[in-house]
Amino acid sequence: MNAVEVKNLSFKYKDTKEYVFKDVNFSVRPGETLAITGRSGSGKTTLCNCICGLVPRLYKGELRGEVLIFGENIKNLSIADTVTKIGVIFQNPSTQLFSPTIEDELAFGPENLCVDREEIGLRMNEILRIINMEDYRHDNPNNLSGGQQQLIAIASTLMLKPSILICDEIMSWIDDEGRAIIKDILLKLKKDGKTIIVVDHENENLDIADRIICIGD
Ligand SMILES: Nc1ncnc2c1ncn2[C@@H]1O[C@H](COP(=O)(O)OP(=O)(O)OP(=O)(O)O)[C@@H](O)[C@H]1O
Ligand SMILES: [Mg+2]
Repeated sequence: MNAVEVKNLSFKYKDTKEYVFKDVNFSVRPGETLAITGRSGSGKTTLCNCICGLVPRLYKGELRGEVLIFGENIKNLSIADTVTKIGVIFQNPSTQLFSPTIEDELAFGPENLCVDREEIGLRMNEILRIINMEDYRHDNPNNLSGGQQQLIAIASTLMLKPSILICDEIMSWIDDEGRAIIKDILLKLKKDGKTIIVVDHENENLDIADRIICIGD
């Protein structure tokens, strides 16, 4: 069974004339890292938002076709089911962080899903170790560098243990050193069997992908 299957997907935002894309078909195998490229405005972010359910939950419009997550139509999944299956990280980390400390930030998602306190603590220790930021757990995310903030955004997504991770241009605001660290973490996650979708237009960031698809026209 595929981790993600996109079938004849078309989407047009509410109050706009043109479809962003029409009849898009592709699938992602479990454990695969798929890169999505395409020129600016070609619909990469919109496509990611369809795969993680933000379209049509948050972004309204005309949606046709299907998105299957491990064989289940995403429209039949609850929000809790969706966020524990698919994690999504965006370009600007500061829009994704809102808690006074990193510990609070990381606990927020699982606390809302009523995950046991002890389990939250275990996950937090493991994830802070993976991103090598154990010493920062009591710090305010606002005081971190952009690269560190992006690592915390990744960590808070991983706290829900999603098997699919969508990264939408997560390296574009990050310096070379930060990029190398993030790539390394994505490779580690890939080794652990996560299914990863990366959107990026820098070729150098795409060498972690098993397959590249290009969207547009
Ligand atoms: N909320 C919205 N309402 C209406 N139109 C939108 C909305 N978001 C995006 N669009 C339009 O949909 C098209 C695709 O945008 P999208 O952000 O998905 O492209 P992208 O490939 O991610 O671009 P970039 O590389 O710049 O991030 C664009 O024409 C954009 O103007
Ligand atoms: Mg985009």
